[in-house]
Amino acid sequence: MKYKSVAIDGPSGAGKSTLAKRLAKELGFIYVDTGAIYRTLGLFALSRGVSPSDEEQVKELLPSVSIYMDYGPDGLQHMYLGGKPELGGVDVTDRIRTPEVSDAASKVSALPMVRDFLMDMQRGMAQNYSVVMDGRDIGTVVLPHAEVKIFLTASPEERARRRCAELQERGTSIAYETVLSDIMERDSRDSGRSAAPLKQAEDAILVDTTGISLEESFQLLLQTVRENLA
Ligand code: DC
Repeated sequence: MKYKSVAIDGPSGAGKSTLAKRLAKELGFIYVDTGAIYRTLGLFALSRGVSPSDEEQVKELLPSVSIYMDYGPDGLQHMYLGGKPELGGVDVTDRIRTPEVSDAASKVSALPMVRDFLMDMQRGMAQNYSVVMDGRDIGTVVLPHAEVKIFLTASPEERARRRCAELQERGTSIAYETVLSDIMERDSRDSGRSAAPLKQAEDAILVDTTGISLEESFQLLLQTVRENLA
């Protein structure tokens, strides 16, 4: 059976994971959040006291890391450190969402050896399932033959506003200016790095969600994907 892949790339806070998750459900595909894989490695580095941007230290760390992912009964992607849960792996799905881990993930993900190390895990998913996979280099590097490639974006200011609203809903409030400068710093690190930088694949379709609601964004994405998946 030939599995199909939808690759969704774009900067942080463009709504990729929310929209990709819903899209996967609608299409009956598996949703693969590749950022969560980098985050899990970032968390591992922090937990071992390793600086996530120190190439030598991270290199020494890689042979001892065991990242496992699976899908719970809720259909959500769970991340484990230390292997499968039945072999003692620890579920870190919630712990990888802190600002410290975001920063560590962005730093480890800039190292080419880390990208190579995590490649098989990502490609393996697309070899075994029809997937909606989101990240930064899915259409350009990980799945260059994906049936549909989307570059999902929104202006930095819009992404910062959305992030502030989301944080507020969760009871945390961080100043808009801080969130905006974090977003711009991560954008420039993700786009400026030499290893698989964030960029739109030549054959990707640009979907800009600035100024439109989440529902409108989803309808636009679904229509675009359906037209191109046929
Ligand atoms: O999508 P996210 O914010 O959870 O990703 C966390 C970090 O991982 C982000 O700074 C960019 C990096 N990343 C990457 O380099 N390549 C991917 N395919 C996915 C994420």
